[in-house]
Amino acid sequence: MNTATKIGIGSALSRVDGADKVTGRAKYAAEYKVDDLLYGVAVCAKIAKGKILSIDEADARAVPGVVDVISHLNRPKQAWLDRNWKDELSIPGEPFKAFHDETVMFAGQPVALVVADTFEAARFAASLIDIRYEEEPHNIDFAASLDEKFMPSHLKRRNNYHPPKNRGHAQQAYDDAPVKVAADYHLAPEHHNPMEMHASTVEWHGDGKITVYDKVQGSQGPQAYLASAFGLGKKNVRVVNAFVGGGFGSGLRPQWQVQLAVMGAIHLEQSVRVVMTRQQMFTHAHRPECTYSVRLGAEPDGKLSAMMHDATTSTSRFENNMEDIVIWGMMAYDCPNASGEYAIAPRDTYTSADMRAPGAATGMTLFEIAMDEMAYAAGVDPLDFRLRNYSEVDAMNGTPYTSKALREAYQEGAARFGWDKRSAAPRSMKEGRELVGYGMATGMWDAMFSKTAARATLSADGKLEVASASSDIGTGTYTVMVQVAADTLGLSPDRITATLGDSDLPEAPVEGGSWGAASTGAAVQLACQSVAKKLLSAAGKLDGDPFHGVNGIEGLEFADGAMIRRDNPDVRASLTDVMAAAGLDKIEVEETAGPGIGDMISMARKSRNTHSAVFCEVRVDEELNQVRVTRVVNAVAAGRIINPKTARSQILGGVVMGIGMALHEETFADTTLGRWMNHNFAEYHVPAHADIHDIDVIFVDEPDPEVTPLGVKGLGEIGIVGTAAAVANAIYHATGKRVRSLPITIDKLL
Ligand code: MOS
Repeated sequence: MNTATKIGIGSALSRVDGADKVTGRAKYAAEYKVDDLLYGVAVCAKIAKGKILSIDEADARAVPGVVDVISHLNRPKQAWLDRNWKDELSIPGEPFKAFHDETVMFAGQPVALVVADTFEAARFAASLIDIRYEEEPHNIDFAASLDEKFMPSHLKRRNNYHPPKNRGHAQQAYDDAPVKVAADYHLAPEHHNPMEMHASTVEWHGDGKITVYDKVQGSQGPQAYLASAFGLGKKNVRVVNAFVGGGFGSGLRPQWQVQLAVMGAIHLEQSVRVVMTRQQMFTHAHRPECTYSVRLGAEPDGKLSAMMHDATTSTSRFENNMEDIVIWGMMAYDCPNASGEYAIAPRDTYTSADMRAPGAATGMTLFEIAMDEMAYAAGVDPLDFRLRNYSEVDAMNGTPYTSKALREAYQEGAARFGWDKRSAAPRSMKEGRELVGYGMATGMWDAMFSKTAARATLSADGKLEVASASSDIGTGTYTVMVQVAADTLGLSPDRITATLGDSDLPEAPVEGGSWGAASTGAAVQLACQSVAKKLLSAAGKLDGDPFHGVNGIEGLEFADGAMIRRDNPDVRASLTDVMAAAGLDKIEVEETAGPGIGDMISMARKSRNTHSAVFCEVRVDEELNQVRVTRVVNAVAAGRIINPKTARSQILGGVVMGIGMALHEETFADTTLGRWMNHNFAEYHVPAHADIHDIDVIFVDEPDPEVTPLGVKGLGEIGIVGTAAAVANAIYHATGKRVRSLPITIDKLL
């Protein structure tokens, strides 16, 4: 057994889909070759609110190659007949239905689809469509919308919203506190712009069935959604999302291009592709704008005595998108008196939506700036201040955590960063013409687990396929599946194929919430364990029955393509020999992992969260106010790490997005026209290579057998949480200027 080698859980395996991606073999939604394909280009509304009076299509229809113009006037009759349809993460309210009627609810709303036999003809013809509107008064100004803010009482709880739970007497304690901080914080709206724009290729099979290649974060949710919205029946809709060029939450809901593509295919009884333009990416999912008022009270030694949180985020007029904004600080810190208020404010835009660590990336980040302010107010080092208020338990719910190695993350992060070299006073560190600042913040996210099924098929030649309808939005699901299978059955990764991203595969949820690795990993493990059990019984057919008396697969080691007796490692048999002896050409099993199945949590009320400690160095040009984020150390406590290489990539990406949140990303509202102004990459800034310098990622040891079957907590989102606060806090330390509104653009530092 000591000769056994394993490339399994914990090894830094390179992405198994990496070569396919860089060579172009990996196909994305708009790249599938389909016969007789038509191209649809959407025409978007130029007003924010009102009614369509007329659509003049004559010039467009005269363009050679144009096949049809589809709008509410001639859309297929069956669309939107099903009043029960919804998407997988449906937001309370009335979901947007493209071409439902003449109503316009937001600027950029698709109001017509020009379909042609080439993309170029469709695009040109779309520019010739002339639409007359009757405009109604609109408001997309967040500040003005606050007059209408509300908390829908019937929505106090939904799957991913948790109302704040107050404790003690926050107002009284705040009034009595010797040290106080009271300030308002703001986060600008940010529009989703993953590399791959939303795209759908709908293949019309002619027998009532369609295959939809879609840029979306799950296949089976959209399958049910499209079947219901278009009255097609689930068996007639197959959704494929084998490769996804970044999701971040933009593809949790199917977006409007798939509505249009399916509508076009049904209407014309032909295959249709619709791809959003980069500008049209600004017509849908965006992180809500947020205003967050914080009051903190502390003793002179920096022990928190009161915290009051009050936040509002933006939503649309037709749906109530709610996020967990205020609960993070209430959970994270030991403080006897805490209160939280949360509301949403409607405006005439598309509905805001989940974007990487929705709620926490906003709420925890803004709150961590307030925590920094309190550390200065109390005259305590910011890290020391957080340690003084460290909570071993979930302080809001009063429940223990399955694990919380945040203390270790603070320690290891601070040591790696060199936090002890920080001089306390703002504006006290300088090099050349640059002011140097050190800042830090805490991050926190959920460690979730979603019911997921997987199938494992071992062939007589010793090759294994593991399959699940899970998705890989760039996070590494393919690789995780291969590693878990390799680990469980002792096979070399090159003998294993992972298949995912197809609604025909075993049931799996949308990929989101950072639950992918924990959930799909657990399902693959269960399926492979089930294969192992079948191998053990098949081994009874081996000459001399060498595994006789082995009591279950716990008595076996799987390595080097063989099964090995733990009580006598000299007894081993290759999996192919076992299958040959039993005359099996394959072993195929499907298993479902879910809460309550190999998951202790359901029985013990515990909180499950990931934590992080983010340390940041900025250099600010004293004359130009240009900010450079020169170093970030992000120390993460996320349970067991399946693959340190792909895991590190997730945190790097989260940090980059956090730097964008701190310094760059912001969509500006033109309140007169009711449109987003900077709907392109020239004016909507995201970090470029020159903006990113050293990023160091640490995973602290956090064994947690309880949190999920594999001990995995998930990593897709924690990297962004707190990062922008660490940057903002470092800028304060460098410059002595406290900016409470993100992003911190140069003008705010003047
Ligand atoms: Mo993520 S915002 O759950 O895709």
